[in-house]
Amino acid sequence: MDPTIRSATREDCAQLTELMHASSAYRGDYAAILHGYAVTPAQVEADLVFVAEQDGRILGFYSLRGVPAAPELDLLFVRDEAQGRRLGARLLDHLRGQARALGIARIAIVAHPPAEAFYLRMGAERVGTRPPTGRVSWSRPLLSLPVG
Ligand SMILES: CC(C)(COP(=O)(O)OP(=O)(O)OC[C@H]1O[C@@H](n2cnc3c(N)ncnc32)[C@H](O)[C@@H]1OP(=O)(O)O)[C@@H](O)C(=O)NCCC(=O)NCCS
Repeated sequence: MDPTIRSATREDCAQLTELMHASSAYRGDYAAILHGYAVTPAQVEADLVFVAEQDGRILGFYSLRGVPAAPELDLLFVRDEAQGRRLGARLLDHLRGQARALGIARIAIVAHPPAEAFYLRMGAERVGTRPPTGRVSWSRPLLSLPVG
């Protein structure tokens, strides 16, 4: 059965934080961006956060901040072992549905470089580059995702 997508609750925070830190996409130099980072109940309540769950285990989630004035994808993660089965695409489609209902036309994305090709495949457009800043010592693609 496909994972169910539901709204996140404050009780999910520990599992969302664990899921992020377990991601192999953020090993090596990229680990710096997640150092000390945790998803908080305040974030879950302020932002649009949805999880994909199967048998009580969260397999992926997204978080949209800046709603509705300056919508930006804050987080999108699929567990390593659940990748490549269209869960990322499903979560992004779900996000588009939520955004559409809120009258949002475009979503900004500061992409993790290895994920840029995924977003382009999903219809995002490259609009610029964010230079290195603070502990983020690498440039990041700036993308714009039409909600459609
Ligand atoms: C990026 C991520 C969310 C994609 O999730 P996923 O479930 O593996 O992706 P899907 O299976 O839904 O893939 C959808 C399509 O994108 C393609 N795709 C997925 N990841 C890709 C990548 N890194 N490069 C190129 N294409 C990719 C798939 O081949 C598929 O193409 P298709 O439509 O031709 O079949 C997932 O790899 C992830 O969580 N990565 C680690 C965290 C991360 O970097 N998040 C982004 C932060 S900005």
